[in-house]
Amino acid sequence: MEKPLPTPIPRHIAIIMDGNGRWARARGLPRLKGHEAGAESVRRVLRAARKYGVKYVTLYAFSVENWSRPAIEVRGLMRLLRTFLKANESELHENRTRLRVMGRRSDLPAATDRELARIEAATACYDERQLVLCLSYGGRTEIAAAARKIAEEAAAGALDPAAVDEAAVASRLYLPDVPDPDLVVRTSGERRLSNFLLWQCAYAEFLSTSVAWPDFGEDDFRTALEEFSRRHRRFGGLGPDAGPSA
Ligand code: IPE
Ligand code: IPE
Ligand code: MG
Repeated sequence: MEKPLPTPIPRHIAIIMDGNGRWARARGLPRLKGHEAGAESVRRVLRAARKYGVKYVTLYAFSVENWSRPAIEVRGLMRLLRTFLKANESELHENRTRLRVMGRRSDLPAATDRELARIEAATACYDERQLVLCLSYGGRTEIAAAARKIAEEAAAGALDPAAVDEAAVASRLYLPDVPDPDLVVRTSGERRLSNFLLWQCAYAEFLSTSVAWPDFGEDDFRTALEEFSRRHRRFGGLGPDAGPSA
């Protein structure tokens, strides 16, 4: 018999997919083989997310800092992205999954950006679940871009500086309609955000697992859900076990 579902199930899981290079190295393989194996993990995790009813999955696929890697690795990752899109587009439709992209899109090869935009438009009709790919993404870049928009609107007289509040910033981020992540998972043992969703993660639960991304499977996904179900989120308030204030 299946074990009962952990509750609550996070509405939004964001994943820092790390450790592809180390996974490959440990097997005497080139780093790109690790990235290829990582693409298979993406398929497994999306399947698990559907099974457990997680509505939003955000994947940190390529950071603004990752452009500093050797050109051959960057090219390989961009090629892998195109292969992934080709191989998975029909599954997005079958599973009524909306694809979204967040990041500095103008950095991407033009043909890749067009392909992404085409699939985003073709899947925009689905609202059962969303897959958000972070590509050339940086949290600071995103916040700086929002600040620039605010400054431009204020300079044009369209926005009163006194009206700039959290909502004003949040509404100018890349995907303002996507709710904040409830759970951030980082694979491969690292315990840092590496510039991921800095604004949106203000109150996300953080989980670091030693499993390398290419080895991450449905069981690890379930383990993460179980860990999340044991967390007590307080958002700065008091939990039920807080005791009297005075
Ligand atoms: C994560 O794996 C994938 C990307 C950052 C694109 P890494 O390539 O960072 O793997 P490690 O950290 O070197 O093992
Ligand atoms: C974070 O991993 C970026 C992605 C997973 C896309 P990195 O491997 O680039 O992060 P650092 O360099 O270890 O902080
Ligand atoms: Mg890494």
